[in-house]
Amino acid sequence: MNANNSTLRAAITGLGVYLPEKRLTNQELEQMLDTSAEWIVQRTGICERRIAAPKETTFTMALEASRQALTVANLSAAKVDLIICATLTPEHPFPSTASLLQHALGATRAAGFDLEAACAGFIYALSVARAYIISGMAENILVIGSETMSRVVDWEDRSTCILFGDGAGAAVVRAVRGPAEVGGAIESVVLANDGSKASALIIPGGGSHSPTTEETVRQRLHFIQMNGSEVFKAAVRGMSDACLLAAERADLKLSELDLMVAHQANARIIEAVQRRLGLPDYKVYQNLQRYGNTSAASVPIALYDAQQEGRLRSGMRVAIAGFGGGFSCGAAIIRWG
Ligand code: COA
Repeated sequence: MNANNSTLRAAITGLGVYLPEKRLTNQELEQMLDTSAEWIVQRTGICERRIAAPKETTFTMALEASRQALTVANLSAAKVDLIICATLTPEHPFPSTASLLQHALGATRAAGFDLEAACAGFIYALSVARAYIISGMAENILVIGSETMSRVVDWEDRSTCILFGDGAGAAVVRAVRGPAEVGGAIESVVLANDGSKASALIIPGGGSHSPTTEETVRQRLHFIQMNGSEVFKAAVRGMSDACLLAAERADLKLSELDLMVAHQANARIIEAVQRRLGLPDYKVYQNLQRYGNTSAASVPIALYDAQQEGRLRSGMRVAIAGFGGGFSCGAAIIRWG
């Protein structure tokens, strides 16, 4: 994108997170399952994950993250035009989690909807926010990824339950003008889908295909089912191809990229993407050792932590990437404001 100073751009102006206090360590999982802490850390890089308390839900976590993001962005909720909540674990099938947030935040003039693109949800939501802003349909948008994965993983399936955790991340996306070097910009976004692989990462039960019955419950169809190696290969290919295309669209050479914040699913997936893009270690951020895979929340939580740790600074150009069920995939190049 060749933006001049008068071009309307969409920029992230504030981030917020919420993480439940309860930690579930690999050592604790050893007591619950036929697994070992060593296996989990070697195969995934994950050491512990956060688990929502009974009163913590996708909505309550999203609310806390949103409040923080609005405070950081110095934006009153009454000025928010749109709330997009990316989640595969909504508060209810309907109404949307975004509707609950609209009321609880006092975002009196905001429209809102939930967006389901599994673990790529935050990138998809960001792309919608950017399009609304560039087209002039909105000025201030709250984009949230919030997930209570602990309520949809099968705690009897050691190949999936070790991977996931709960949490929320929120970003305020605003219309800005002037130099991108100062105000920041979401410079490019790339999205992709491969529905032929839908069954490789799925919650088969609870929708119109298999409504809840005693039989669907008995068959444990309301929990995540996954073909791990198929997801692994597609995630590496999908996120690296999407990053390459997003960089090309942003007129950015990969050597000029300052940081990559990929979906925090598995350290080996991130390292394989890193190799394909030829990035040095110091340009790749990881925090999955602390939180596991928080699905749509993982990228905003990682951006927040990277900023807190001084790894993500004003003026930097960062690639974010996501991959998940669908298979859904996306990447964006962001100039940090
Ligand atoms: N503890 C111990 N052993 C386990 C285990 C666990 N928690 N989970 C699986 N295993 C076993 C398997 O049963 C298999 O045993 P077998 O060879 O006797 O059949 C063995 O470990 C190897 O399994 P494999 O699937 O080859 O391991 P892997 O190296 O592919 O790692 C994943 C498994 C799940 C960690 C890996 O495939 C992965 O991360 N995939 C992507 C998952 C993901 O990120 N999903 C979300 C994307 S949004």
